[in-house]
Amino acid sequence: MGSPDSGAPVIRAQVGGHYREDGHYPIVVVNVTNHCNLTCQHCFIFRDGNPNLAPESIRQEMDPESMLQTLRGLRERHGLSVALWMGGEPLLKPRLLADGIGLFAHNTITTNGTVPLTDFGPDVLYVVSLDGPEDLNDAIRGEGSYRRVIRNLSRLPQGFSTPVQVQCVVTRRNQHRLGELVDAVRETQANWMTFSFYVPRASDTGPDAWATVEERASAVREVQRLKEKYAGFVRNSSLSLELMLPPYARRVTDACPAHDAILPLYLEGDHFTTPFCCYGNDVDCDRCGAWVVFQLAARLGGERYGAIETPAAT
Ligand SMILES: C[S@@+](CC[C@H](N)C(=O)[O-])C[C@H]1O[C@@H](n2cnc3c(N)ncnc32)[C@H](O)[C@@H]1O
Ligand code: SF4
Ligand code: SF4
Repeated sequence: MGSPDSGAPVIRAQVGGHYREDGHYPIVVVNVTNHCNLTCQHCFIFRDGNPNLAPESIRQEMDPESMLQTLRGLRERHGLSVALWMGGEPLLKPRLLADGIGLFAHNTITTNGTVPLTDFGPDVLYVVSLDGPEDLNDAIRGEGSYRRVIRNLSRLPQGFSTPVQVQCVVTRRNQHRLGELVDAVRETQANWMTFSFYVPRASDTGPDAWATVEERASAVREVQRLKEKYAGFVRNSSLSLELMLPPYARRVTDACPAHDAILPLYLEGDHFTTPFCCYGNDVDCDRCGAWVVFQLAARLGGERYGAIETPAAT
């Protein structure tokens, strides 16, 4: 560990787990709290085997000063430039976020959107989670959550400057009704939508998981259809969606581009810990549908995976 005098980065809080001191990670995921006001059924954070214990009081979690100083040190050590702020629910700690976004060149705050959004300025991006039309969203994310989010997104204060992107996790349960959600979100002040796909545990046979990526393909095609219909609003790149289909999907996840590029920092008591990947420890890579994985893969280029890149698929 360095000291201010040695010129080495000061990393006050310990970082354990799969953390690699010599890793080059351009992107950091920071779970600022393990507290959350929702208990979504599909949530990978609160799965057994992931670092997710929350002390009774949110104030007993790692103190903001230690967290910020540790992030500053990790930024220097690893060249971090993009921060994805998560939790639990990150908006439970708005002051920490306000200070934290100053540390990184690019910042995204992923929130359940059930509390009014704070304006963090035009250079930050909000990703607000909604997982289907009201009945399906609420079956996953909890009764009344859909209405709270839609109300917040429809009543952003005048001049609110932080852009808002709604993210829907596509699952086996909601795949047939995504169009309804797009129509509803288009009525709000949200700027864009993206679709991520459910990331299952290794032995997941639950209602959200497809058995194989072949079985998932019709859901991907539905998102491709929505992308064609609402090209400027649905923000997944066409190539990233193409790469989610067989045979490309397995080629992408076999050499997951997010695994090496993203440093996940989960909270564990007074320190951070890095699980196997940003989706935790118990994951089935073969069926992973994380937006970030396929977006990064698309940036690397379709040829790498044997996909022909047409101008329409960029
Ligand atoms: C874990 S949440 C944390 C931030 C915030 N509480 C929220 O819900 O947006 C981050 C994102 O992961 C999504 N998510 C949760 N479980 C997932 C899973 N098993 N597979 C893919 N995405 C998932 C959530 O819907 C949300 O968009
Ligand atoms: S709101 Fe986010 S962190 Fe909380 S349970 Fe739902 S997906 Fe998980
Ligand atoms: S679960 Fe997804 S994000 Fe995690 S390592 Fe596997 S392919 Fe990558």
